[in-house]
Amino acid sequence: MEIKEDQFEILKKIGEGGYGEVYEAKLKATNELVAIKFINKEELIGDELKRFEREIRIHNQLNHQNIIGIIDYYITSEDSKPYYVMPIAEKNFSTFLREYREDNYAPMDDEIATMYFNQLLDGVEYAHSEGIIHRDLNPRNILVFNNGNTIKISDFGFGKRLNSDSESLTLTGTGVGTDIYSAPEQLHEGNAKEVDERADIYSLGKILYEMVTGDLPYIIDAERIKSSRFSYIINRATRHNKEDRYKSVSKLKEDLEYLVIKSKYLNEDPSAKFNELLDEYYRTSEIKILEDILDLFLAYHDSESLFESRFFLLEENIFKIMYNEYKDKLLTNVENYLYHTRGYHAFSSTDYIADTLEKIYSVISSDGNDELREKILIRLCGLGYDHNRFHVGIVFARVASKMTTGNDILLLISVLEANIAASSWNKTYLFEYTLPSRITEFLKTI
Ligand SMILES: Nc1ncnc2c1ncn2[C@@H]1O[C@H](COP(=O)(O)OP(=O)(O)O)[C@@H](O)[C@H]1O
Ligand SMILES: [Mg+2]
Repeated sequence: MEIKEDQFEILKKIGEGGYGEVYEAKLKATNELVAIKFINKEELIGDELKRFEREIRIHNQLNHQNIIGIIDYYITSEDSKPYYVMPIAEKNFSTFLREYREDNYAPMDDEIATMYFNQLLDGVEYAHSEGIIHRDLNPRNILVFNNGNTIKISDFGFGKRLNSDSESLTLTGTGVGTDIYSAPEQLHEGNAKEVDERADIYSLGKILYEMVTGDLPYIIDAERIKSSRFSYIINRATRHNKEDRYKSVSKLKEDLEYLVIKSKYLNEDPSAKFNELLDEYYRTSEIKILEDILDLFLAYHDSESLFESRFFLLEENIFKIMYNEYKDKLLTNVENYLYHTRGYHAFSSTDYIADTLEKIYSVISSDGNDELREKILIRLCGLGYDHNRFHVGIVFARVASKMTTGNDILLLISVLEANIAASSWNKTYLFEYTLPSRITEFLKTI
């Protein structure tokens, strides 16, 4: 479809910015209402028209439910203004947020903010995956559809000459506050190369702040968000140095998921929930349930009783699948398990801890994560000694006997070396097994 200028009827102006105007219009053929953005060519200096054309082509290829679609565009004509046609939104998100506050006498509650923010993240993540950085994410460039239930990102990429965008916005008097969403590195002339995904992440943090506080995000006021569930995410996303921010939208999403999941399981008995999930897994063998189990532990990362009473129930083949499918989540939980099982224990739980660590060690034995494996070895080495528990000594020896790579053997020796008393205690058990000669030699020296 090619929408020529004689095929629509302009109804009214609905927006105006640095590069042109947006009108509500009606397609004569179908009576469909659309929005048309006209670009002021005079605003486009040098080869910017070419760039605009290229970028509109790219935007046209983006296909995502949270990015405004382009119905048609018309650029090349010498005499007319370039324009593009899009579905018409109910309003922009800035207006939406203001009305929401006025109607509710309060900023957005967490669930609703999460719902919108997730949509925003999905759209931005997708754009980034297509190699496009938005560079001007702010509530006026987010459009609201579907009775306020869907948001779509608009005003993509093009014409974002650094500095000049906010300048021209200010000149036309409509730029109120758009550059409060821009990352610090965007505000310096000649910094185009420095601007990457993390600039969008900064803007996302500011937008989230606005949603949950109801304030325009001139600054991030720590006081205003100190009891918010999102404070960590907001702070991390809006760090001044881009090196300190999330390095990708996916990373930000992981944390958001974690915080939301926590609320999902809140008010439930996590141990009962665990039993339910594990039963379900045995019944259905659905791998996704293993992720739910990991999420449950993540949500209750500070519950010693959950870790102590349930983590050991996971079998080695389950750990294996978790490692293959949800490695980061598993490893985080293993770290937490190690944390919760430090110190002294009843004898029987000492044995369970050792068995669990043996399973985990075997699953991660080929992982590059030396640090975690070292932690496990240190724990196993000390656990039997501290509790004088022969079962643990046997487990430790068995783990040691399975070591094959030079790397692992050196790792073990460094652990033994650093814990001489515990190592001597473990000697009896270690000598029961055939060990790599390097380890045997070392044991003879202590
Ligand atoms: N598809 C649309 N439907 C409804 N309103 C729109 C649409 N596109 C833009 N607008 C309105 O016009 C304003 C300016 O549009 P935008 O594309 O952001 O142009 P600018 O380059 O001026 O920032 C938006 O903030 C929004 O309020
Ligand atoms: Mg805009």
